[in-house]
Amino acid sequence: MSATIINTLLDKTKDLSLEETLSFLANEYQDKVIFSTSFGQEDQVITDFIFKNDIAIKVFTLDTGRLFQETYDVFHKTLKKYKKQIEVYFPEATAVENLLKEKGPNSFYDSVENRKECCFIRKVVPLRKALAGNAVWITGLRAEQSENRNDLQLFEYDGGFDIIKFNPLLKWTLEEVEDYLKEYNVPQNVLHKKGFVSIGCAPCTRAIFPGEDIRAGRWWWESSHKECGLHSAKKE
Ligand code: ADX
Ligand code: SF4
Repeated sequence: MSATIINTLLDKTKDLSLEETLSFLANEYQDKVIFSTSFGQEDQVITDFIFKNDIAIKVFTLDTGRLFQETYDVFHKTLKKYKKQIEVYFPEATAVENLLKEKGPNSFYDSVENRKECCFIRKVVPLRKALAGNAVWITGLRAEQSENRNDLQLFEYDGGFDIIKFNPLLKWTLEEVEDYLKEYNVPQNVLHKKGFVSIGCAPCTRAIFPGEDIRAGRWWWESSHKECGLHSAKKE
């Protein structure tokens, strides 16, 4: 069933531009298309496409409560530039209160298990809430970001969240993303100029050194697969 839908979507959009594809989805799945932004470079490209062209796609962010001030600055600038709404999903207060009471504020450094627990509370549960009732989830994932993202598809069914996922920038290079942001004067995180490429929560992100992997600065103390549960759900 889901494979048929995916193939139909691939077929119907194969000759469309990104802007046309976004409009097509908004029309086909009225009010049920949602885009998740972390205000990273890729997300800012997609935000620009959606807002500038007035496409009826909802935009939301997961405010984990541990983001960089610089990320909130991009959030603020984006609201000012486009004058559109961005929905915010926050973690359940009681879950965060209990986590901090039981394990303290920095438990993520102690073990992968603790780190995933924090990501689950602050990201996965709010994401589930944000995606509920929607049909298509748009992300800024790119294939070259990591090995596990290499086998992603433009459209795919995410069995974990039971939703069709659309990764429009899948084949874009970092250079193409940067060029776009420059050309259209899109607000960007000032941390990118300081060596940060992939940016998540402040305590779990560092700048990368020349030659390091794009995601080396995420959960840098771990040698895990460096996923937090947003994009590692099982596909079917
Ligand atoms: S993560 O899983 O490692 O955190 P990454 O930072 O690479 O993800 O971002 C990939 C995509 O996941 C983004 O383009 C965005 O669609 C979504 N995403 C990641 N973090 C958030 C967030 N805090 N709020 C909303 N969407 C997010
Ligand atoms: Fe918690 Fe770090 Fe995951 Fe953010 S990235 S939710 S602070 S473990």
